[in-house]
Amino acid sequence: MCGAAVSEPDTTDTTILTGSAYRDDRHLAARQSLYRWQQPTYDLPGLVLEHLPIRTGTVLDVGCGNGTYVTRLRSQRPGLTVVGLDISPGILATVSAPVVAADAARLPVGDHSATAVLAMHTLYHVDNIDAAVAEAVRVLEPGGIFIASTNAREDKAELDDLWARAAGEVLGVDRGPRRISLSTRFALNDAPQRLRSHFAAVETVELPGTITVHEPEPVIAHLASYRSWAENIGVPFDATLTRARDLLQHMIDRDGRFQITCRGGILLCHTTRHDDKARYDR
Ligand SMILES: C[S@@+](CC[C@H](N)C(=O)[O-])C[C@H]1O[C@@H](n2cnc3c(N)ncnc32)[C@H](O)[C@@H]1O
Repeated sequence: MCGAAVSEPDTTDTTILTGSAYRDDRHLAARQSLYRWQQPTYDLPGLVLEHLPIRTGTVLDVGCGNGTYVTRLRSQRPGLTVVGLDISPGILATVSAPVVAADAARLPVGDHSATAVLAMHTLYHVDNIDAAVAEAVRVLEPGGIFIASTNAREDKAELDDLWARAAGEVLGVDRGPRRISLSTRFALNDAPQRLRSHFAAVETVELPGTITVHEPEPVIAHLASYRSWAENIGVPFDATLTRARDLLQHMIDRDGRFQITCRGGILLCHTTRHDDKARYDR
């Protein structure tokens, strides 16, 4: 058959990011909620706190989204000034002040003014990733830490398979176009190497897990959250979702559950080496 032209969705397009994908936190919350069914569970803000041994100073959360990390850091470390920054003014409306609408590659803060910078599941949306990391380095104090998170390329591979099967059935071919993937541009597989050109030391904390669901809905809500990038993906989005739901229900009826393998991780990036970080441990 002659299919529609397929092109990679531009997951860095600012108009889509601010006007649709993150205009509010609806889609983000749908993606976040799938992790409720993951084992082991990871308290990501708790892990950030664990690796952030500071009580005073300024923390910039770049791409703060709906403020999961901002809220937790403020409540558990009241001595810190935690500023949420995001390219989308809409999603910032869900976070209490201080927040600033800004692009990760052009932070409106002075040199060496932050003790820590976070970019959790954000860099893969940034057009020039190295410029954004260089910007974090510019604003960090000597001895400061940059913490980023992302997923590996093989993260949630079962969803790739499910989507390709559903899309294939909609199009009448063996396998349809692959699922929209956000983290591929800054995948955990090669992110450490990339960050090493900016920092004195980079450590990876791997967060492997398995999501188990007994009904299709949490998975379908997750897949539906990619709708903002669904134009030009070469397959009708709603028809593929409907088919994916049917396939999932069939697998759950047959196996009693559907499992998804997760491979996320956190990257701890130090501006100075460990043996020279006395100033930072305050
Ligand atoms: C996947 S969400 C992550 C939100 C939050 N950090 C979390 O982990 O829950 C990505 C966030 O990055 C923001 N973002 C995307 N591109 C950005 C950019 N160039 N500069 C600043 N924020 C950006 C989006 O608006 C969105 O809120």
